Amino acid sequence: MDFQPIASLLQESMEGKKARIRGWIYRTRSSGGVAFVVLRDSTAILQCAVKKSQVPEKQFADAEKALLESAVEVEGIIKKDGRAPGGFEVQATSFRVKQFAQVFPISRDQSPEFLLDVRHLWIRSRELTAAAKVKATVLEAARAFFKSRGYWETTPPLIVSGACEGGSTLFDFNYFGKKAFLSQSAQLYLEALIYSLEKVYAITPSFRAEKSRTVRHLAEYWHIEGEEAYMDFEGLLKFEEELIAFICHQVAKERAEELKRLGRDPSDLLKIKPPFKRLKYEEAVSLLQKKGSSVQFGDDFGAEDEKLLTEHETQPLFVTHFPKKIKAFYMKQDLENPELVFGNDCLAPEGYGEIIGGSQREDDLKEIERRLKEQGSDPKDYEWYLDLRRFGSVPHSGFGLGAERLVRWICKLEHIRDATPFPRVINRSYP
Ligand code: 4AD
Ligand code: MG
Repeated sequence: MDFQPIASLLQESMEGKKARIRGWIYRTRSSGGVAFVVLRDSTAILQCAVKKSQVPEKQFADAEKALLESAVEVEGIIKKDGRAPGGFEVQATSFRVKQFAQVFPISRDQSPEFLLDVRHLWIRSRELTAAAKVKATVLEAARAFFKSRGYWETTPPLIVSGACEGGSTLFDFNYFGKKAFLSQSAQLYLEALIYSLEKVYAITPSFRAEKSRTVRHLAEYWHIEGEEAYMDFEGLLKFEEELIAFICHQVAKERAEELKRLGRDPSDLLKIKPPFKRLKYEEAVSLLQKKGSSVQFGDDFGAEDEKLLTEHETQPLFVTHFPKKIKAFYMKQDLENPELVFGNDCLAPEGYGEIIGGSQREDDLKEIERRLKEQGSDPKDYEWYLDLRRFGSVPHSGFGLGAERLVRWICKLEHIRDATPFPRVINRSYP
């Protein structure tokens, strides 16, 4: 008989059937000749009642002795039991310890810093496991959505020669004696790829040397980016809202249990529905001022502003038409008001804030050279990118969605670090 996933045993029809499971000890106690050992596998937890009278003497002794996180294999009969977690129990006929764990260093009420030091062990927790499964479904859904729209998945480089999102958050390193950088965004490379593939996306790590400690910044995060030839700004906003809604619905359908464990009602996600509310930057500034923010026209929004804008929202919100000065050089200027650009942020509701940055791209060579100079860059450093405006330039648009930002909102996580197994934040690259 093969080992069975624990989740497959937790149903009425299994009552009285034989079970063979393996996993790690999640909780354990013994009283009056019975060891109650709760086992955890990747699917669920299940209590095993190991009775002295039902198993060989050595096995009972092992069951009493084995500490948390010991690796064990159990055989027995499934019984309904209202007192057991999940409503079922295995009455063991065999209890084998594959490895007796040492004393597990994690117990209740430990500091966040300690838990980060032992992250390689803490990722076994049920909350982090639930968030990891949600993230896997988010990535799977994103790929399915791109596929349904005829996009090609591509593999842009992570070692790059220049900045996409400004020099202040670039990591540099010695690349065979020359300075190179870790990619902040695949965008410029995706733009190059539209001339052969037209609709492209990439899911890659992006790197940002974020020098501050916040609940929404990582130094390394997973970036879901798309780029489409001939797509205008309106088409871009529609694509973004449909992508977000699709991902939310898939997660609600496939990860309902994990969501509930994390405190998110799956029906919140089923209600996410385009069209999302749109605010022009200028309108957002006045709204913020009415809400008491000191933000002025021309300022970039901080986390507090985004929180003020979205805390009472239940749907994501677009902010569009930002001033040129606070956005990147590649955004196309608004034809009606050249001080503004066709850029958008998509803000998650409930105060979570920005999850997407996108824009229609500037497709005119002269204009983009001017913008590079304005921001203090040398167009020579972007020669290859400028070639894209010399050879068959067409209108196009694209966006970047931060996977951990999205997971943080979906899972209602306090800190973005729990949306990734081994978070890279300022001063931490261990474990
Ligand atoms: O708004 P950003 O900087 O836009 C770009 O990088 C564009 N070049 C993307 C594109 O058009 N292809 O970043 C996009 C998204 C943000 O909205 C946010 O979700 C996420 O990336 N992000 C971060 N996530 C975690 N930690 C950080 N330090 C992040 N910085 C950006
Ligand atoms: Mg942004």
